[in-house]
Amino acid sequence: MPKPPLAVFILAAGKGTRTRIDLPKVLLPLCGRPLLGYVLDTAARLGPAHTVVVLSHGMDRIQSELAAQLEHCLVVDQGKPLGTGHAVRTALDALDESLGSPFSGDILVLYGDCPLIGELSLEALRDSLEEDLEGEFEFVIEPDPGGNGTGTNGRHGSESRGSEPAMASLLTCLDPVTPGLGRILRDDDGYFVGVREEKDCTLAELEIDEVNTGFCCFRSEALRATLPKLRDDNKQAEYYLTDVFGLLVDDDQLVRPVMTPDPEETVGVNSLADLADARNAMQDRILLRHLENGVMIEDPATTVIEGDVEIGRGTKIFPYCVIRNGVKIGEDCEVGPFAHLRVGAVLADKAQVGNFVEMKNAALGPGSKAKHLTYLGDAEIGEGTNIGAGTVTANYDGKAKHKTVIGNRAFIGSGTIIVAPASVGDEAMTGAGALLTRETAVADGEVYVGVPAKPIRRRAAESSGSDKQDEA
Ligand code: UD1
Ligand code: MG
Repeated sequence: MPKPPLAVFILAAGKGTRTRIDLPKVLLPLCGRPLLGYVLDTAARLGPAHTVVVLSHGMDRIQSELAAQLEHCLVVDQGKPLGTGHAVRTALDALDESLGSPFSGDILVLYGDCPLIGELSLEALRDSLEEDLEGEFEFVIEPDPGGNGTGTNGRHGSESRGSEPAMASLLTCLDPVTPGLGRILRDDDGYFVGVREEKDCTLAELEIDEVNTGFCCFRSEALRATLPKLRDDNKQAEYYLTDVFGLLVDDDQLVRPVMTPDPEETVGVNSLADLADARNAMQDRILLRHLENGVMIEDPATTVIEGDVEIGRGTKIFPYCVIRNGVKIGEDCEVGPFAHLRVGAVLADKAQVGNFVEMKNAALGPGSKAKHLTYLGDAEIGEGTNIGAGTVTANYDGKAKHKTVIGNRAFIGSGTIIVAPASVGDEAMTGAGALLTRETAVADGEVYVGVPAKPIRRRAAESSGSDKQDEA
């Protein structure tokens, strides 16, 4: 049977006061991109008919920073955020209005501050509306015939209703430590009865280990009928989306809690400490992907690699490197220790970058090396060239950036400063400490020395840079 249409609602209107900084929380950077960017990507991979993004605080900034991803979304302004229930109601009203008739289908709710969730978990959550997934997915708590009333071991759903479609499903998790999470309430037989926000919990309810991750899915009709019943008579004076579950249960509708086997995926970022935890988890995933592709990362614990980086097989990454988005590294290269590669850094196969070398918008040709204490910005360097220790391409004159072009098999002596724009030809050489002033063009095979650097002779063919690469 074909699935009903899917609408994804992404809630991102909260102010994020717990981060204590002005940046809208969903723009906090995680491995080089904003939190909300991950959620938008995951949502897109589900192929929904509609994606509605609820914003408020920092709306203009969020829309401009994520313009490309938001292009295919319906973006709505929640105004004063009155709670997650109010946010979902704002989204549903806007969707209905944009369609000209009430949306009918499944509604998946994601929080903009939960960047690690994977689409398989979300698909399982949605499928669990249709039937109890026991036996098909790992997402089910073992039945506990006795039931203990605390909800931690209770069987979810109703045995007799296992194949009955549910009106809502919610992803839960066992987490006795993270503060601030809603608790999953179950009756004495272990059946789900609702969610209680931490601030509204009794002391006994605070002991419950099964918590709400925030991810949930609804039949649109059930959600539309229940949202108007929400009230804000709670400790935070908010309209909680989480009250919808209890209201549905009171109405004898089936709600299925589904426990995630992977709690890490559900981590929400409320503070900068949470952000650091989430970053570690995301970083591990990125490093693992490179390791599985044949990249030799000597010490993952001290290696920072953002998400949008290409690295070829056989390349060695030594400890304490920072490799930002937009870097491309070929096969059998060496990077680090202590290298900093920024956007537009490109290393062709077998190129080497050593300690305290920074590259930005600079290409190092095949087999070329810059092994020590060097800045290469806005530079293009050919094949088999050696860049000596302490070389600096001075690319910025205070107003604009200028380019340095260095040819093949050139040899740049230690401490050379090249004031761009400037060029150094094939097989050319600079002496130690040379200062190449603006618009210097060192012809092929010439040797330049001094401050400012002047040509002294032509370079003998046998001492070409490719043989002397390690002398820097
Ligand atoms: C929420 C859940 C809680 C769950 C936790 C998991 C509610 C009431 N509580 O709490 O049960 O354990 O997530 O992380 O849902 N937002 C809006 N508009 C609003 C309020 C919030 O768009 O009016 C957005 C926020 O930007 C955020 C998300 O909804 O992305 C969740 O809000 P947040 O304040 O972080 O809720 P929690 O207290 O974490
Ligand atoms: Mg939160």
